[in-house]
Amino acid sequence: MESYISIKNVSYSYYGKEQALCNVNLDIRKGDLLCIIGQNGSGKSTLLHVINALIFPDSGTFEFCGKAITEKYLKDANNNLNFRMQFGYIFQNPDIQLFCPSVIDELLFAPLQLQLSREEAEKRAHDTMKYIGIEHLKERSVLSLSGGEKKKVAIASILTMNPEVILIDEPLAGLDPKTQTFFTEMIIELHRIGKTIVFTTHNLELIDHLQPKVAVISEQHSVIKVGTTTEILNDEELLKNVNLLHEHTHIHGNEVHRHYHSHYVFHKHE
Ligand SMILES: Nc1ncnc2c1ncn2[C@@H]1O[C@H](COP(=O)(O)OP(=O)(O)OP(=O)(O)O)[C@@H](O)[C@H]1O
Ligand SMILES: [Mg+2]
Repeated sequence: MESYISIKNVSYSYYGKEQALCNVNLDIRKGDLLCIIGQNGSGKSTLLHVINALIFPDSGTFEFCGKAITEKYLKDANNNLNFRMQFGYIFQNPDIQLFCPSVIDELLFAPLQLQLSREEAEKRAHDTMKYIGIEHLKERSVLSLSGGEKKKVAIASILTMNPEVILIDEPLAGLDPKTQTFFTEMIIELHRIGKTIVFTTHNLELIDHLQPKVAVISEQHSVIKVGTTTEILNDEELLKNVNLLHEHTHIHGNEVHRHYHSHYVFHKHE
């Protein structure tokens, strides 16, 4: 199958000094469910910014459907609309994403930008609010919402776009357990209907549940391994190296022993 999203030798540094990505290579196919893991500051969010063309590599290329997506390419209004309508990005911090005065305005924004009729936009907004369970927030000011409510609105505002590619930075961060379960099931459903999904997490339990392809970013900001969930979760050495497993001491009866574990997968007390 031909490559859909292709990241080749991409490096990026903020203001020319904070290195965030270093020679990153990654291929994503249409319909993939891919998770990017790595410790804090490794470059996960930066990589999603590159895939959404919010920033452009200092060197290397980002291609979508065989086209290099550059600043120059997106200066053309048609190219820009065509690219933007296919990508939805749910930010790690919903405060960055939400900018309309009310929840309903936020949900209508993308469909109206995409030149849908008012009637169709309202139907999408209504259906999405119902699906996410935020109808009661419809007229509320976005600024007055709790963190979890903002996250739900941020997710809803991307679903109203109905994009082909959905980028989700830390999908479960800041959500209560019931909402976490809901959004985990939502990711499964979106993948099932054929969306290409790229998400980031530190949560190995989520990976074990969703069984995505996994790309691991090192402290040095490079993708050092791409594999199946089983391949990555079985590679304890690698997970220790990228600080996703840590050492704990446990007491069992009179015995004290020390082992590495994440918060879940390797936390077995025989
Ligand atoms: N706006 C910014 N200005 C300067 N440096 C930045 C900026 N955003 C990120 N960085 C730096 O770039 C590197 C990668 O950051 P990034 O946010 O991509 O990491 P991350 O893997 O998403 O981390 P986390 O798990 O904490 O979300 C870090 O060293 C970070 O300090
Ligand atoms: Mg991040």
